Amino acid sequence: MLVLGIESSCDETAAALLEDGKSILSNVVASQIETHRSFGGVVPELASREHLRNIGYVVHKAFSDAGRSYDRIDGIAVTQGPGLIGSLLVGLSFAKAMAFALKKPLVPINHIEGHIYSAFIEHAEIPYPLLALAVSGGHTSLFFSPEPEMYRPVGRTRDDAAGEALDKLAKFLGLGYPGGPIIDRLAQQGDPRKFHFSIPKISDGSLDFSFSGFKTAALRHIELAGIQPHRSGRKVTQKILDLVASYQQVIVDTLISQTRKAAERHHPRSILLVGGVACNSLLRRTMKAAFEEKENGCPVFYPSPMLTTDNAAMIAAAGTPKLRRGMAAGLDLNAFADLPLC
Ligand code: KG4
Ligand code: ZN
Repeated sequence: MLVLGIESSCDETAAALLEDGKSILSNVVASQIETHRSFGGVVPELASREHLRNIGYVVHKAFSDAGRSYDRIDGIAVTQGPGLIGSLLVGLSFAKAMAFALKKPLVPINHIEGHIYSAFIEHAEIPYPLLALAVSGGHTSLFFSPEPEMYRPVGRTRDDAAGEALDKLAKFLGLGYPGGPIIDRLAQQGDPRKFHFSIPKISDGSLDFSFSGFKTAALRHIELAGIQPHRSGRKVTQKILDLVASYQQVIVDTLISQTRKAAERHHPRSILLVGGVACNSLLRRTMKAAFEEKENGCPVFYPSPMLTTDNAAMIAAAGTPKLRRGMAAGLDLNAFADLPLC
Protein backbone atom coordinates (compact mmCIF):
# COMPACT_ATOMS: atom_id res chain seq x y z
CA MET A 1 0.00 0.00 0.00
CA LEU A 2 1.49 3.32 -1.11
CA VAL A 3 0.40 6.32 0.98
CA LEU A 4 1.07 10.02 0.49
CA GLY A 5 1.39 11.83 3.82
CA ILE A 6 0.95 15.60 4.12
CA GLU A 7 1.84 17.57 7.27
CA SER A 8 1.54 21.34 7.81
CA SER A 9 0.41 21.76 11.43
CA CYS A 10 3.12 24.19 12.54
CA ASP A 11 6.18 25.52 10.74
CA GLU A 12 7.23 22.57 8.58
CA THR A 13 5.66 21.89 5.19
CA ALA A 14 6.12 18.17 4.65
CA ALA A 15 5.15 15.41 2.23
CA ALA A 16 6.25 11.77 2.11
CA LEU A 17 5.55 8.56 0.26
CA LEU A 18 5.47 5.48 2.47
CA GLU A 19 5.05 1.90 1.32
CA ASP A 20 3.30 -0.64 3.58
CA GLY A 21 3.72 1.58 6.63
CA LYS A 22 7.46 0.84 6.81
CA SER A 23 9.41 1.75 3.75
CA ILE A 24 10.07 5.45 3.24
CA LEU A 25 10.33 6.15 -0.48
CA SER A 26 10.61 9.90 0.07
CA ASN A 27 10.42 12.28 3.02
CA VAL A 28 10.50 15.98 2.11
CA VAL A 29 10.46 18.66 4.81
CA ALA A 30 10.59 22.39 4.03
CA SER A 31 11.57 24.07 7.26
CA GLN A 32 10.54 27.65 8.01
CA ILE A 33 13.15 28.20 10.71
CA GLU A 34 14.77 31.09 8.82
CA THR A 35 11.41 32.87 8.42
CA HIS A 36 10.68 32.78 12.15
CA ARG A 37 14.20 33.01 13.59
CA SER A 38 14.30 36.80 14.00
CA PHE A 39 11.00 36.66 15.93
CA GLY A 40 12.27 33.93 18.28
CA GLY A 41 9.15 31.82 17.67
CA VAL A 42 6.59 30.83 15.05
CA VAL A 43 4.50 33.72 13.66
CA PRO A 44 1.22 32.03 12.61
CA GLU A 45 0.37 34.39 9.74
CA LEU A 46 3.83 34.00 8.20
CA ALA A 47 3.68 30.22 8.70
CA SER A 48 0.43 29.96 6.68
CA ARG A 49 1.87 32.04 3.85
CA GLU A 50 5.05 29.94 3.75
CA HIS A 51 2.98 26.73 3.63
CA LEU A 52 1.03 28.15 0.68
CA ARG A 53 4.26 28.97 -1.09
CA ASN A 54 5.87 25.57 -0.42
CA ILE A 55 3.15 22.94 -0.50
CA GLY A 56 2.95 22.38 -4.27
CA TYR A 57 6.72 22.03 -4.62
CA VAL A 58 7.08 19.80 -1.53
CA VAL A 59 4.39 17.34 -2.69
CA HIS A 60 5.80 17.29 -6.21
CA LYS A 61 9.29 16.59 -4.83
CA ALA A 62 7.96 13.73 -2.69
CA PHE A 63 6.77 12.01 -5.88
CA SER A 64 9.88 12.77 -7.90
CA ASP A 65 12.25 11.64 -5.10
CA ALA A 66 10.28 8.38 -4.86
CA GLY A 67 10.23 7.95 -8.65
CA ARG A 68 6.47 7.33 -8.58
CA SER A 69 3.68 8.99 -10.51
CA TYR A 70 0.67 10.59 -8.77
CA ASP A 71 -1.77 7.88 -9.83
CA ARG A 72 0.29 5.10 -8.15
CA ILE A 73 -0.79 6.04 -4.60
CA ASP A 74 -3.53 4.10 -2.79
CA GLY A 75 -4.55 6.98 -0.56
CA ILE A 76 -3.66 10.23 1.18
CA ALA A 77 -3.19 10.88 4.90
CA VAL A 78 -3.24 14.47 6.10
CA THR A 79 -2.82 16.17 9.48
CA GLN A 80 -6.19 17.44 10.71
CA GLY A 81 -5.02 18.92 14.02
CA PRO A 82 -4.00 19.96 16.59
CA GLY A 83 -1.91 22.88 15.37
CA LEU A 84 -2.09 26.38 13.93
CA ILE A 85 -5.41 26.59 12.13
CA GLY A 86 -4.14 28.63 9.15
CA SER A 87 -1.24 26.23 8.68
CA LEU A 88 -3.42 23.11 8.98
CA LEU A 89 -5.91 24.42 6.43
CA VAL A 90 -3.23 24.75 3.74
CA GLY A 91 -2.22 21.07 3.95
CA LEU A 92 -5.79 19.87 4.41
CA SER A 93 -7.16 21.84 1.44
CA PHE A 94 -4.30 20.69 -0.77
CA ALA A 95 -4.89 17.06 0.27
CA LYS A 96 -8.62 17.34 -0.41
CA ALA A 97 -7.99 18.78 -3.88
CA MET A 98 -5.54 15.95 -4.67
CA ALA A 99 -7.90 13.27 -3.36
CA PHE A 100 -10.70 14.70 -5.52
CA ALA A 101 -8.57 15.04 -8.65
CA LEU A 102 -6.95 11.60 -8.32
CA LYS A 103 -10.11 9.87 -7.02
CA LYS A 104 -8.17 8.46 -4.03
CA PRO A 105 -9.35 8.02 -0.42
CA LEU A 106 -8.30 10.64 2.11
CA VAL A 107 -7.88 10.02 5.86
CA PRO A 108 -7.47 12.68 8.57
CA ILE A 109 -4.70 12.12 11.12
CA ASN A 110 -4.22 13.55 14.59
CA HIS A 111 -0.71 15.04 14.67
CA ILE A 112 0.07 13.32 17.99
CA GLU A 113 -0.97 9.95 16.61
CA GLY A 114 1.44 10.70 13.75
CA HIS A 115 4.25 11.22 16.29
CA ILE A 116 3.34 7.91 17.96
CA TYR A 117 3.47 6.11 14.60
CA SER A 118 6.88 7.66 13.85
CA ALA A 119 8.34 5.06 16.22
CA PHE A 120 6.73 2.17 14.33
CA ILE A 121 8.35 2.99 10.98
CA GLU A 122 11.77 1.85 12.17
CA HIS A 123 10.80 -0.58 14.96
CA ALA A 124 8.71 -3.39 13.56
CA GLU A 125 7.43 -5.09 16.68
CA ILE A 126 6.74 -2.65 19.46
CA PRO A 127 4.73 -4.58 22.06
CA TYR A 128 1.33 -3.41 23.31
CA PRO A 129 0.10 -2.15 25.67
CA LEU A 130 2.37 0.85 25.40
CA LEU A 131 2.90 4.14 27.13
CA ALA A 132 3.76 7.09 24.88
CA LEU A 133 5.38 10.31 26.04
CA ALA A 134 4.68 12.86 23.29
CA VAL A 135 6.82 15.87 23.94
CA SER A 136 7.30 18.75 21.52
CA GLY A 137 7.08 22.51 21.12
CA GLY A 138 3.29 22.40 21.31
CA HIS A 139 2.53 19.29 23.38
CA THR A 140 3.59 17.37 26.45
CA SER A 141 1.29 14.43 27.05
CA LEU A 142 1.28 10.84 28.21
CA PHE A 143 -0.97 8.32 26.49
CA PHE A 144 -1.67 4.74 27.45
CA SER A 145 -2.44 2.67 24.38
CA PRO A 146 -3.81 -0.83 25.11
CA GLU A 147 -3.91 -1.73 21.41
CA PRO A 148 -3.23 -0.04 18.04
CA GLU A 149 -5.26 3.13 17.43
CA MET A 150 -6.71 3.22 20.97
CA TYR A 151 -5.44 5.99 23.21
CA ARG A 152 -6.21 6.90 26.78
CA PRO A 153 -4.78 10.30 27.79
CA VAL A 154 -3.20 9.87 31.22
CA GLY A 155 -1.29 13.13 31.69
CA ARG A 156 -0.79 16.48 29.96
CA THR A 157 0.85 19.80 30.58
CA ARG A 158 -1.20 22.33 32.47
CA ASP A 159 0.75 25.27 31.04
CA ASP A 160 3.78 25.34 28.71
CA ALA A 161 4.96 22.37 26.65
CA ALA A 162 8.48 21.14 27.45
CA GLY A 163 9.84 22.31 24.07
CA GLU A 164 8.22 25.69 24.58
CA ALA A 165 9.92 25.98 27.99
CA LEU A 166 13.32 25.27 26.38
CA ASP A 167 12.64 27.63 23.46
CA LYS A 168 11.56 30.46 25.77
CA LEU A 169 14.64 30.32 28.01
CA ALA A 170 16.94 30.17 24.96
CA LYS A 171 15.17 33.21 23.54
CA PHE A 172 15.46 35.11 26.82
CA LEU A 173 19.19 34.34 27.04
CA GLY A 174 19.75 35.37 23.39
CA LEU A 175 20.94 31.87 22.45
CA GLY A 176 18.93 31.49 19.24
CA TYR A 177 15.95 29.64 17.82
CA PRO A 178 14.72 26.96 18.15
CA GLY A 179 16.11 26.70 21.66
CA GLY A 180 15.74 22.94 22.28
CA PRO A 181 18.64 21.72 20.13
CA ILE A 182 20.82 24.68 21.19
CA ILE A 183 20.26 23.96 24.90
CA ASP A 184 20.86 20.24 24.26
CA ARG A 185 24.29 21.10 22.82
CA LEU A 186 25.30 23.82 25.32
CA ALA A 187 24.16 21.85 28.37
CA GLN A 188 26.89 19.30 27.67
CA GLN A 189 29.44 21.93 28.80
CA GLY A 190 27.49 23.00 31.90
CA ASP A 191 27.07 21.71 35.44
CA PRO A 192 23.44 20.55 35.94
CA ARG A 193 23.78 20.83 39.75
CA LYS A 194 24.83 24.48 39.79
CA PHE A 195 21.34 26.00 39.89
CA HIS A 196 18.55 24.54 41.97
CA PHE A 197 15.03 24.07 40.59
CA SER A 198 12.42 22.36 42.72
CA ILE A 199 9.91 20.07 41.02
CA PRO A 200 6.36 21.23 41.82
CA LYS A 201 4.13 18.65 43.47
CA ILE A 202 0.82 18.22 41.67
CA SER A 203 -1.29 17.49 44.73
CA ASP A 204 -4.31 15.78 43.12
CA GLY A 205 -2.24 12.69 42.25
CA SER A 206 -2.66 13.26 38.51
CA LEU A 207 0.10 12.56 36.00
CA ASP A 208 -0.01 16.09 34.60
CA PHE A 209 3.03 18.28 33.97
CA SER A 210 3.75 21.92 34.73
CA PHE A 211 6.77 23.75 33.31
CA SER A 212 6.00 27.45 33.64
CA GLY A 213 7.32 27.57 37.23
CA PHE A 214 10.79 26.55 35.98
CA LYS A 215 10.82 29.53 33.65
CA THR A 216 9.99 31.90 36.52
CA ALA A 217 12.67 30.21 38.67
CA ALA A 218 15.19 30.56 35.81
CA LEU A 219 14.43 34.28 35.54
CA ARG A 220 15.10 34.64 39.28
CA HIS A 221 18.41 32.77 38.94
CA ILE A 222 19.35 35.08 36.06
CA GLU A 223 18.61 38.12 38.22
CA LEU A 224 20.30 36.84 41.39
CA ALA A 225 23.41 35.55 39.62
CA GLY A 226 23.65 38.69 37.44
CA ILE A 227 23.60 36.67 34.21
CA GLN A 228 23.77 38.82 31.10
CA PRO A 229 22.13 37.59 27.86
CA HIS A 230 24.52 36.05 25.36
CA ARG A 231 25.96 38.37 22.71
CA SER A 232 26.48 36.77 19.33
CA GLY A 233 30.09 36.35 18.33
CA ARG A 234 31.16 35.97 21.99
CA LYS A 235 31.83 32.76 23.88
CA VAL A 236 28.79 31.56 25.87
CA THR A 237 29.56 32.25 29.56
CA GLN A 238 29.98 29.41 32.06
CA LYS A 239 27.05 30.77 34.11
CA ILE A 240 24.76 30.45 31.08
CA LEU A 241 26.08 26.94 30.36
CA ASP A 242 25.41 25.91 33.98
CA LEU A 243 21.96 27.49 33.98
CA VAL A 244 20.79 25.78 30.77
CA ALA A 245 22.24 22.45 31.97
CA SER A 246 20.36 22.75 35.29
CA TYR A 247 17.15 23.82 33.52
CA GLN A 248 17.33 20.97 30.99
CA GLN A 249 18.03 18.53 33.84
CA VAL A 250 14.92 19.50 35.81
CA ILE A 251 12.74 19.31 32.68
CA VAL A 252 14.09 15.83 31.90
CA ASP A 253 13.69 14.75 35.55
CA THR A 254 10.06 15.91 35.50
CA LEU A 255 9.32 14.04 32.26
CA ILE A 256 10.92 10.85 33.59
CA SER A 257 9.26 11.05 36.99
CA GLN A 258 5.72 11.37 35.54
CA THR A 259 6.42 8.65 32.97
CA ARG A 260 7.64 6.35 35.76
CA LYS A 261 4.46 6.95 37.79
CA ALA A 262 2.34 6.29 34.70
CA ALA A 263 4.24 3.05 34.04
CA GLU A 264 3.68 1.92 37.65
CA ARG A 265 -0.05 2.56 37.26
CA HIS A 266 -0.61 1.12 33.78
CA HIS A 267 2.04 -1.62 33.40
CA PRO A 268 2.95 -1.09 29.73
CA ARG A 269 5.12 -3.56 27.82
CA SER A 270 6.93 -0.76 26.00
CA ILE A 271 7.55 2.97 26.27
CA LEU A 272 7.59 5.37 23.31
CA LEU A 273 9.40 8.67 23.38
CA VAL A 274 8.19 10.83 20.49
CA GLY A 275 7.89 14.47 19.32
CA GLY A 276 10.63 17.05 18.69
CA VAL A 277 11.96 17.11 22.28
CA ALA A 278 12.49 13.34 22.01
CA CYS A 279 15.64 14.33 20.04
CA ASN A 280 17.12 15.52 23.32
CA SER A 281 20.22 13.48 24.08
CA LEU A 282 19.88 13.65 27.88
CA LEU A 283 16.21 12.64 27.72
CA ARG A 284 16.92 9.68 25.41
CA ARG A 285 19.79 8.47 27.57
CA THR A 286 17.97 8.92 30.88
CA MET A 287 14.77 7.26 29.65
CA LYS A 288 16.69 4.19 28.52
CA ALA A 289 18.57 4.03 31.83
CA ALA A 290 15.39 4.54 33.87
CA PHE A 291 13.29 1.86 32.20
CA GLU A 292 15.52 -0.66 30.46
CA GLU A 293 18.35 -1.17 32.87
CA LYS A 294 16.38 -2.26 35.90
CA GLU A 295 15.03 -5.72 36.59
CA ASN A 296 11.84 -6.52 34.66
CA GLY A 297 12.75 -3.52 32.48
CA CYS A 298 10.53 -2.11 29.81
CA PRO A 299 11.99 -1.38 26.35
CA VAL A 300 12.10 2.28 25.30
CA PHE A 301 11.64 3.15 21.61
CA TYR A 302 12.25 6.46 19.86
CA PRO A 303 12.57 7.35 16.19
CA SER A 304 15.73 8.60 14.50
CA PRO A 305 16.01 12.44 14.59
CA MET A 306 14.62 12.97 11.06
CA LEU A 307 11.42 11.17 12.07
CA THR A 308 11.28 12.70 15.55
CA THR A 309 10.68 16.32 14.53
CA ASP A 310 7.64 17.12 12.38
CA ASN A 311 7.52 15.13 9.14
CA ALA A 312 4.94 13.56 6.83
CA ALA A 313 6.24 9.96 6.85
CA MET A 314 4.75 9.62 10.34
CA ILE A 315 1.39 10.94 9.06
CA ALA A 316 1.45 8.39 6.22
CA ALA A 317 2.34 5.66 8.75
CA ALA A 318 -0.65 6.55 10.94
CA GLY A 319 -2.87 6.67 7.85
CA THR A 320 -1.86 3.26 6.49
CA PRO A 321 -3.99 1.04 8.82
CA LYS A 322 -6.96 3.37 8.42
CA LEU A 323 -6.74 3.26 4.62
CA ARG A 324 -6.32 -0.53 4.79
CA ARG A 325 -9.60 -0.69 6.70
CA GLY A 326 -11.29 1.31 3.92
CA MET A 327 -11.69 4.51 5.89
CA ALA A 328 -12.26 7.60 3.71
CA ALA A 329 -13.27 11.12 4.71
CA GLY A 330 -15.66 13.31 2.73
CA LEU A 331 -14.59 16.52 1.06
CA ASP A 332 -16.27 18.46 3.87
CA LEU A 333 -13.34 17.42 6.10
CA ASN A 334 -12.27 20.26 8.40
CA ALA A 335 -9.14 21.12 10.40
CA PHE A 336 -9.14 21.77 14.16
CA ALA A 337 -6.62 23.76 16.19
CA ASP A 338 -7.55 21.63 19.23
CA LEU A 339 -8.09 17.99 18.45
CA PRO A 340 -8.01 15.52 21.34
CA LEU A 341 -6.45 12.10 20.79
CA CYS A 342 -8.55 9.36 22.35
O1 KG4 B 1 7.57 17.92 17.07
P1 KG4 B 1 8.15 19.24 16.70
O2 KG4 B 1 9.04 19.31 15.49
O3 KG4 B 1 7.02 20.30 16.49
C1 KG4 B 1 5.87 20.38 17.29
O4 KG4 B 1 4.93 19.57 17.07
O5 KG4 B 1 5.91 21.24 18.22
O6 KG4 B 1 8.93 19.79 18.00
C2 KG4 B 1 9.64 21.00 18.00
C3 KG4 B 1 10.23 21.22 19.38
C4 KG4 B 1 10.85 22.60 19.60
O7 KG4 B 1 10.41 23.13 20.84
C5 KG4 B 1 12.34 22.29 19.65
O8 KG4 B 1 13.07 23.22 20.46
C6 KG4 B 1 12.34 20.91 20.26
O9 KG4 B 1 11.26 20.25 19.62
N1 KG4 B 1 13.60 20.18 20.01
C7 KG4 B 1 14.44 19.80 20.99
C8 KG4 B 1 15.55 19.17 20.37
N2 KG4 B 1 15.32 19.17 19.01
C9 KG4 B 1 14.11 19.79 18.81
N3 KG4 B 1 14.36 19.95 22.33
C10 KG4 B 1 15.38 19.46 23.07
N4 KG4 B 1 16.47 18.87 22.55
C11 KG4 B 1 16.60 18.69 21.20
N5 KG4 B 1 17.69 18.09 20.70
ZN1 ZN C 1 4.97 17.72 16.22
